[in-house]
Amino acid sequence: MATFLSGIQPTGRQHLGNYFGAILQHLAAQDEAGEHFYFIADYHALTTVRDPAELRDNVLETAVTYLSLGLDPERVALFRQSDIPEVTELTWLLACTTGMGLLERAHSYKDKLAHGVKPNVGLFTYPILMAADILAYDSNVVPVGKDQAQHVEMAQDMATSFNAVFGDVFVRPESRFQERELFARVPGLDGEKMSKSYGNTVWIFEAGKPLKKAVGRIVTDSRSPEEPKDPDELLLVRFLELFLAAEELDEWKERVRRGGPEAPGYGHLKVRLIEAMDERFAAARARREELLADPGEVNRILARGAEIARPRARATLERAKRACGLL
Ligand code: TRP
Repeated sequence: MATFLSGIQPTGRQHLGNYFGAILQHLAAQDEAGEHFYFIADYHALTTVRDPAELRDNVLETAVTYLSLGLDPERVALFRQSDIPEVTELTWLLACTTGMGLLERAHSYKDKLAHGVKPNVGLFTYPILMAADILAYDSNVVPVGKDQAQHVEMAQDMATSFNAVFGDVFVRPESRFQERELFARVPGLDGEKMSKSYGNTVWIFEAGKPLKKAVGRIVTDSRSPEEPKDPDELLLVRFLELFLAAEELDEWKERVRRGGPEAPGYGHLKVRLIEAMDERFAAARARREELLADPGEVNRILARGAEIARPRARATLERAKRACGLL
């Protein structure tokens, strides 16, 4: 039986790029036979977040986001990373068999340095904590975004080095990516990749006027509706592609391509996009409101998840300690 595991950064309000690139994949995996462990990576967040209220809010918001979109706590152990202290102990054991060179080659670390971030030691050892997360539960399948590919490879390497020194302790994990290119690279309102750091995002639960305003920002040009256009070059069509069924999408595209008096204008396409987002997310928005009104329930779900996950991590830690002579 497979064990699925993934960590979710508590970044607060998740956007459509997060939804199509990662969340949908996480939700689909819960239908597969096996065990499922999803946690909120609050220790990882601490490499950058400096405001305790912000961290608390973001952890809650992230849990609520997943639960409202359909994560089923009956099938998935959803928990806080920091509720499993065994993971930090495992981090130390792995650190002692991991070469400096491996960490120095981490793209995401090098990117941050290149952007002028003054690194703390936690940021440098981020991939070891992530390897401990993955290895603690004997995970086989790790659904992640492509940006995490190297981190999962590093976890494989760390498992291999530890096993080579101390014997067969850790299971080799495999990553799994969102294969639909369309979903893996959601455009932002300006046509660049949707990303918090570019300020071009749409929050998953945006509704009403703010949603209208966000969609209004999707970049278009000044050509008239009548002028025939290549629909595949329109940013708005790329957004519609995320939400519409193939048949309806093809109709819109055909009308754009033909042009003439029957062709939809950009405003028309924007209205359809807003409707499609309302259809997709209306129920989830309502569930989000309910959950936010009852944070006690969310905390109970997280505590129950930790109760399921912790014995697994404890067993792995004990195996690892025994292997290296600490027990
Ligand atoms: N680094 C991951 C991200 O930024 C989050 C994460 C932490 C994770 N630990 C993990 C993902 C373990 C998968 C497995 O998205």
